[in-house]
Formats: sequence, C-alpha cells, structure tokens
Amino acid sequence: ESTTELDISSLDVGQSIKAVFRKQPIFVRRLTPAEIEAANAVNTSSLRDPQTLEERTKPGHESVLVVMGVCTHLGCVPLGAQEGENKGEFGGYFCPCHGSHYDTAARIRKGPAPSNLVVPDYEFTSDTTLVIG
Ligand code: FES
Repeated sequence: ESTTELDISSLDVGQSIKAVFRKQPIFVRRLTPAEIEAANAVNTSSLRDPQTLEERTKPGHESVLVVMGVCTHLGCVPLGAQEGENKGEFGGYFCPCHGSHYDTAARIRKGPAPSNLVVPDYEFTSDTTLVIG
C-alpha cells in the first residue's frame, strides 16, 4: 500500500534518475528522440522478452521510461542511470555482475538475464509527477 511520489520536472531529455521504491532502486529516464527511434527500430519478435516501448510506457508519455533498477538475472543494480556510467552495448543499462545488456527500452538484449527490467505499477498524476506503487 505504500506509494512513492516522484517529481520529474527537472529530468532533462537524455537524463536518468535513481529513486527508491520499497527499498529497491527505480530508474526513470527521459529518452532522447534517438533512443526512442532505436527502441522502435527493433524487430520485437527477435527479442528474448518481446515487448514494444509503447507497451513499457504510458500513453502520451512514451519518452519517460520507468523501470526497477534490479537485474532480472540475479538482482544486481545495473549501471546507466547516472552520468558517465556504462550504458552497455545497446545504450540502455548494463549489469556488470555477469554482463547483461539492456536497450533503450530496458529490454534484455545480450547476456544471461532472462527478461526485461521490470516496469513497476505507476501512473502520472500530472505531466511531471509520477506515483509509483
Ligand atoms: Fe545482472 Fe547477473 S545479476 S547479469
């Protein structure tokens, strides 16, 4: 029943922020047009865990990607949410524990993780406010 409210008004295009939800990290990224294009250019049926960017974001807010910062392999915190961190070969997130690469929609593309970074339950209560949980 606990929820977390996040103000993303200062989240610039191309930036990610880390927050905490139920003691676990959450990554929020405002995707660039190039990152959106890269995500949409992928043939979804070729993916280990087939999902479109649209399915992983909210209508009208397709540039805001919200995922749990927990690798679906063995639970490490991936890199890529902070300035200068390794985003991996597909420009999203990279888990250094055993080398899982996630793309700009945080979908698993390479390495041992079985599935995409999890999108938590959340909603926009304004253009710049997210309520997670
Ligand atoms: Fe991330 Fe193993 S925990 S690759």
